[in-house]
Amino acid sequence: MATEPLDWNAKYDCRGLLYGHQPNSFLAEHAASLIPRQATILSLGEGEGRNAVWLGRHGWKVCAVDVSAHALAKLHRLAAEAGVDIETRRADVSAFDAGCATYGAVIILHMHLPPEARRQAHRRAINALAPGGVLLLEALRPEQLEQPSSGPTAVECLYTADELAEDFAPLQIKYLGTEDRDIRAGQHQGITSVVSLIGRKPG
Ligand SMILES: C[S@@+](CC[C@H](N)C(=O)[O-])C[C@H]1O[C@@H](n2cnc3c(N)ncnc32)[C@H](O)[C@@H]1O
Repeated sequence: MATEPLDWNAKYDCRGLLYGHQPNSFLAEHAASLIPRQATILSLGEGEGRNAVWLGRHGWKVCAVDVSAHALAKLHRLAAEAGVDIETRRADVSAFDAGCATYGAVIILHMHLPPEARRQAHRRAINALAPGGVLLLEALRPEQLEQPSSGPTAVECLYTADELAEDFAPLQIKYLGTEDRDIRAGQHQGITSVVSLIGRKPG
């Protein structure tokens, strides 16, 4: 059965930031050691800007892509408050042409798509990476359905390590692991079942 697309504009139609101001902790932990400062970073499913603005404040250039106009409006406000400039594109990442070998890094944080859209988005992400570029992804896995913290309810939109290993087989996989972590990000609070991947494009 096809998965109903979520109405992200409706979800973002709230006061304040749905996922808070602090960057994703996997990104904050690894960005400095993995991504050269001169790299331009493509953020797919960036949302309200917590990650892009944090990266911008630390000196990286960022292109943020999201399907939700409300999310990008919030991102622009957050970026203006922080005094950083973030390029934005409103697009569906499964059909978005990010160019070829353009970005020093691609980040995909908690963006959950049904299988065919997921595979297409991941193929495009690999294509967008320059040789030597780094891909950093964190997502919820099916075990999240047992957790009280929020997340998609359609199991096909949750990612397994095996699916990610297959999607990102063209990359050198530097890290692929699962854990249950306490995540406190705006309205998302509590123990969370995640799968995380770090890959590098050969060359
Ligand atoms: C759970 S939020 C995560 C936002 C952000 N990455 C973060 O960590 O705060 C998922 C985001 O993916 C975006 N999204 C979902 N499907 C998308 C698609 N097909 N193309 C582009 N963005 C999409 C949503 O609009 C939403 O902003």
